[in-house]
Order: sequence, then structure tokens, then C-alpha cells
Amino acid sequence: MIQKVISLWILVQCAFVTSVFGENAVLKGEASDFDDLPTNGKSKDGPIKFNMRKSLDLEHEGCYLQTGKKECLEECGFNATAKSIFIIHGWTMSGMFENWMHKLVSAVMQRETEANVVVVDWISMAQQLYPDAVNHTLVVGQNIADMLNWLQNETQLPLGNVHLIGYSLGAHVAGYAGTFVQGTIGRITGLDPAGPMFEGVEEQKRLSSDDADFVDVLHTYTREALGVSIGIQQPIGDIDIYPNGGDVQPGCAIGDVLAVAGNFMEVVKCEHERAVHLFVDSLMNKDHMSYAFQCTGPDRFKKGICLSCRKNRCNKIGYNARKMRKRRNTKMYLKTRADTPFGGFHYQMKMHVFDRKLAVDPDPTFHVKLYGAHNDTSDLYVEVPDYKIGLNATNTFLVFTEEDIGDLLKIELSWEGEGESWSSVWKSFRKNFFSWNTSLNKPMLQVRRIRVKAGETQKKFTFCVPEESKIDISPGESLTFEKCRDGWESKPRKRLPIK
Ligand SMILES: *[C@@H]1O[C@H](CO)[C@@H](O)[C@H](O)[C@H]1NC(C)=O
Ligand SMILES: *[C@@H]1O[C@H](CO)[C@@H](O)[C@H](O)[C@H]1NC(C)=O
Ligand SMILES: *[C@@H]1O[C@H](CO)[C@@H](O)[C@H](O)[C@H]1NC(C)=O
Ligand SMILES: *[C@@H]1O[C@H](CO)[C@@H](O)[C@H](O)[C@H]1NC(C)=O
Ligand SMILES: *[C@@H]1O[C@H](CO)[C@@H](O)[C@H](O)[C@H]1NC(C)=O
Ligand SMILES: *[C@@H]1O[C@H](CO)[C@@H](O)[C@H](O)[C@H]1NC(C)=O
Repeated sequence: MIQKVISLWILVQCAFVTSVFGENAVLKGEASDFDDLPTNGKSKDGPIKFNMRKSLDLEHEGCYLQTGKKECLEECGFNATAKSIFIIHGWTMSGMFENWMHKLVSAVMQRETEANVVVVDWISMAQQLYPDAVNHTLVVGQNIADMLNWLQNETQLPLGNVHLIGYSLGAHVAGYAGTFVQGTIGRITGLDPAGPMFEGVEEQKRLSSDDADFVDVLHTYTREALGVSIGIQQPIGDIDIYPNGGDVQPGCAIGDVLAVAGNFMEVVKCEHERAVHLFVDSLMNKDHMSYAFQCTGPDRFKKGICLSCRKNRCNKIGYNARKMRKRRNTKMYLKTRADTPFGGFHYQMKMHVFDRKLAVDPDPTFHVKLYGAHNDTSDLYVEVPDYKIGLNATNTFLVFTEEDIGDLLKIELSWEGEGESWSSVWKSFRKNFFSWNTSLNKPMLQVRRIRVKAGETQKKFTFCVPEESKIDISPGESLTFEKCRDGWESKPRKRLPIK
């Protein structure tokens, strides 16, 4: 297993570094030697630096906190009663801060104008072969703990006001800091914590929900390749949010990214780094928050079963997440747009599909179009996780819209006609193949009403066919559902906990 992990990471490293920096760069990371690491963070020139940011201007160097040096606190204008937010990067191939770092720092500083924003710079220890960088996470975490202990002694810094934000390997560094510090850190956010060499290991050796009062984790790249996943798959925090199921992120598909970059590694980077951009989005777009919903797994979520906010089953994602300490490893899901603002709108739709005419294997492919008070959606393909609509059964779907269409007024349900798409060509081929009698009546189903629940508002509506006699639908046809005459809106039992 370890061998596999190492070879994957070497492959990844070489592929990326070679393509971006040329072949000579590959060796660069191995040159330095850290046998004589100063582990007390006393030196500003040591391998671990605490860079307190003083200005949004990237050129501005800021100043450095050093344990034991009181004068630095004054020089940096450290405010012990304000929040302290530490940002911790991960493994690096380039030996430089990547662009996301600047975006995250600036988003944090704009949102929390009084906070002490500190970048933990362990670049030289992170720019190693992956297993060596992993080996350094403990020392870096210990160093952060030392710094926090010293700040507690020196300034009575309340640890509850400390928030560590770690990306990739940096998430596990934050975990070690939480383990070694005296007391309990307020919050740790793990942004797609690294998977290789952390998946399945005991809690002490990775970020876990014991490391802070509240540990929230965003998982954006949990797809496996060669038996490992770059982002950790297992839930490790109090809440673990898996946007888009935690694997394929919209806008990162090979096609989308290749058009821009022409590099497989760009896909990896796009999906792994998406966690950071979702977090930045949550800091910047306060009026367009994304909600995640508790669910036991991605398949149930895709069916729209899990859009409840009762008993704290939903939460805002990213910076705005509410503490839910009693939970452990709560898996939560949401869909997102491909770009900022990432938030969209989730609808659960339930409809009973009757098969009174005894159609032979009608196997419909449905689309819906939603009409709202502000706008309408395009035709949205109704995704059925097990590829089959249940007949004489209530079907539940998840419909996601990128635009805010306002209150829902009307729904158009259409059955994709024969030959309209490759999936229907295949279906009709299959049908003809298995039932050679093609002179049967055309398939016909009946849908009388659609019940809808909006995830973001928790409002429920029922939509009916305007005329009770017109409930039949066949391939190539559509049915329109409007507000039922009576009782079409049911008030949410409980509003979203915070609005
Ligand atoms: C320190 O932070 C607190 C809380 O944010 C704030 O009330 C106070 O004004 C700050 N002090 C200084 C000197 O900026
Ligand atoms: C990690 O460090 C320890 C000593 O601190 C060493 O024995 C071990 O071989 C290192 N592991 C790797 C993968 O470099
Ligand atoms: C903090 O103070 C305690 C007790 O005064 C002492 O034992 C400890 O070593 C100090 N820690 C640091 C990091 O200064
Ligand atoms: C659906 O129910 C009807 C009777 O209401 C029955 O005739 C038909 O066979 C059922 N279809 C399926 C697929 O179970
Ligand atoms: C309606 O939605 C479309 C995209 O579906 C968008 O281009 C248009 O600007 C929206 N109109 C309004 C009024 O929001
Ligand atoms: C084909 O279906 C039609 C109508 O359902 C029926 O009348 C006919 O007997 C069937 N033919 C065969 C060969 O089963």
C-alpha cells in the first residue's frame, strides 16, 4: 500500500513539476535536508514562519510572530482579544505559495477586519517528496501548538477565538496543533484534507473531531486512482461536507479544463483546490450562502431524499457553518455551480407514476422545466440514480437550479420522445429487442400531482394537473402542473435555524 502511495505521488509530482517548471525542477525539492530542524519556531528564518498579514497588498511582507519574542507582538499589532485565524498550506511542488493562498488570505481579511490573520509558512518542509512532507506535519503542528501556548501565557489569548484553516496536508498539520496545544482550539477547518497515508489511520495521526471544539471538513476530491484518493474519503470532523458527492466537481471535468490548460494535472488541482474556492466563496458571498444537507450517502442525496433542516440536519457550508459539536462524522451533501458564486437551489420532487394501461417496459426518461416568479429554468434532465423510474410507485428526484427563480409557480414534466437522445435510442432498441411485438399500444403513464420541497427555504408545495381528466403522458409529450386549488403550500415546520 505505502509503495503504491509513494509511486502515485512521485508520478504526480514528476508529471506536474516537469510540465510546469521543466525537468530540472524535479530534483529541487529533494536537495534540502532537515535533520537539524529548529523546532521551536524562534527564528524568522527557520523553516516554519508565522507571517502575520497586515495589508491586502500582496507585495507587503507583513511581519513575523516568533515564540518568546514579545516585541514582535507589538510590532505586528497582535490583538489578543480579536479572532486569530491561522492559514496552513499543504504539500507543494513549486516551493511557492499558490494563487489560492492570496485569495483565501484576502477573503479572510476582508470578512474579519479586526482578526489576526497568520499564514503558517512551512514551504521548505512541504516541498519534499510526499512521504517526507507527511513526516513533517507533526513537527509543524507541534510548532503551531508551541506558538499558541506561548500566546496564551503571554497575552491570555483565549484558544476559543482561534481558528485554524488547513488545506490538504495542512489540515493534518492543524490536527496535530490541536492535539499538542494546552486547551482546546475553537475551530479547525479542513479543506480537502490529504488522503494518502492518512486514510484509515488512527485518529491521533490525522485531523479528527477531537482536535478542536468544532471541526468542519470540505471533501472535494475523493475519487480513487491506483487505490488511493488525493483527498481523504472517510469523514473525520464533526461535520464532513461532500460538495457534488465529493468527487466530480462541475467545471473541472477533463473536457472543461483541458480546453484551458491541456494538462491532466490541472483536473486534479481543480478538484482538490475546489475546497479552498468554496471556502473563499463562503467568505465573500455572504448574501448567497450554500446549504449542505445531512445524508447517509451520495446516492440517497441524489434521489432528493435528504433535503431536511429539522433537528439541525442542514448547515451552511464554509466559514458560515454553525458549530454542531454533538455530532461526529456527520456526512452532508450539496450540489454546486461550476463557478463562484457556487451556491444554487435544491428541490425535492415526489410524484407517483401510474401504469394503468399496462405499457410494456415503458422506461421513461423525464425532464422538468420549472417556472418561477423571477425566472424559468431550461429543461432539466431528471436524474434517476438507479436509471429506472418506479411504476405504480412514488419516485423522488433531486432537481438543482443554478438561478434563483423565485417562488415556484408551475412545473412542466416532459417524457423524452423516441430518438431525441442517445439514451432513448438505446432504450427503444432494447425494448424492441426484448419484445418483438412492436404493434403494442404506445407506452402511456399517468401523473396526477407533484409534491415539491425547496431545500433552501424548506417550503413545501403541491402541484396538480389543471384538469383531472388529463393526466396521461407518452413519449414526446408533456404535462403541466400548477398550484393545486387547495392546500398547495404547506408552511415549513421549522424555518432554517439561522437566516
Ligand atoms: C481588538 O479586537 C477587539 C475585538 O475585535 C476590538 O473590540 C478592539 O477594538 C481591538 N483593539 C484594537 C486596538 O484594535
Ligand atoms: C519519518 O521520520 C522518521 C524519524 O523521524 C523516520 O524514521 C522515517 O523513516 C521517516 N519516514 C519517511 C517516510 O521518511
Ligand atoms: C506557560 O506557563 C506555564 C505556567 O506558568 C509554563 O509551565 C509553561 O511552560 C508556559 N508555556 C510557554 C509556552 O511559555
Ligand atoms: C400498476 O397497477 C395496475 C393496476 O392499477 C396494474 O394493472 C399494473 O400491472 C401495475 N403495473 C406495474 C408495473 O406494476
Ligand atoms: C433568467 O435565467 C437566464 C439563464 O437561465 C439568465 O440568462 C437571465 O439573466 C435570467 N433572467 C433574470 C431576470 O434573472
Ligand atoms: C401483438 O399485440 C397485439 C395488440 O396488443 C395483439 O393483438 C397481437 O396478438 C400480438 N401479437 C403477437 C404475435 O403476440
